[in-house]
Amino acid sequence: MGLELSQVTKIYSGRKPEENVRVLDRIDFQIRKGEFFSIVGPSGCGKTTLLRIIAGLDQASEGKVLLGGSEVTGIDERMGMVFQEYALFPWRTTIQNIEMGLEMMKIPKKERRSAAMEYIRAFGLDGFENRFPKALSGGMKQRVSIARTLIMNPEVVLMDEPFASLDNQTRNDLQNFLIRVWDKRKDTVLFVTHNVDEAVYLSDRIMVLSERPSEILEIFDINLPRPRDRTSRRSNKIRKKVLELLSRKG
Ligand SMILES: Nc1ncnc2c1ncn2[C@@H]1O[C@H](COP(=O)(O)OP(=O)(O)OP(=O)(O)O)[C@@H](O)[C@H]1O
Ligand SMILES: [Mg+2]
Repeated sequence: MGLELSQVTKIYSGRKPEENVRVLDRIDFQIRKGEFFSIVGPSGCGKTTLLRIIAGLDQASEGKVLLGGSEVTGIDERMGMVFQEYALFPWRTTIQNIEMGLEMMKIPKKERRSAAMEYIRAFGLDGFENRFPKALSGGMKQRVSIARTLIMNPEVVLMDEPFASLDNQTRNDLQNFLIRVWDKRKDTVLFVTHNVDEAVYLSDRIMVLSERPSEILEIFDINLPRPRDRTSRRSNKIRKKVLELLSRKG
């Protein structure tokens, strides 16, 4: 299901009008169904704010978000979000975290257990289903948190710097893992990252935002075949262009 943002502006109001902060300035773009679309931009430019507005967790001051042609006005079950900090419930085990959304939808226990077990197997978490988050590595926690979102079968997956706190190797592994999962499911993915290498490795397109108040500087098409080579000349060339744009304005 395609996603469209039309002239989305966000102003956080302060106590006095001069304390108002304009974060997003008429953001306008479209994401095609099944596309892997990334957003990069300087810290504090409003990326999380933008994802929260798309997810219906926050409201735009002006403009609108359309999903499959209809306006998003609140939390929308057609979208699922994966947060930067794993946001797992520490008092719930792996399987209990993964099945939580289904539980809230009152799916019978047997059914949700078997659905969660499928994810546990597919996500390489076998043997850890009854462990609590504190017994899992960072990479495993992030797999639990992705599983917990995908089990709800959202049509659009929103990811806010999901791999930011992982070491390089784990991050690379999870990028490959995510691409494999995405390739099978063909979800529409909107992925926020600070990391230009990651964006070039994963995305069909990359949108670069300016400093606050954030506007779109450019949207790059990444026409590289998959599986991608992180060190190929073409990857380096695109990376260079994105980095130059960011350092010019950021
Ligand atoms: N609830 C809020 N009230 C007031 N200002 C806010 C609120 N949430 C965010 N802001 C401000 O909006 C701006 C953008 O914040 P946001 O978290 O969206 O940035 P970001 O691009 O995600 O940054 P980072 O890359 O560091 O995660 C910041 O200046 C922040 O202080
Ligand atoms: Mg953020």
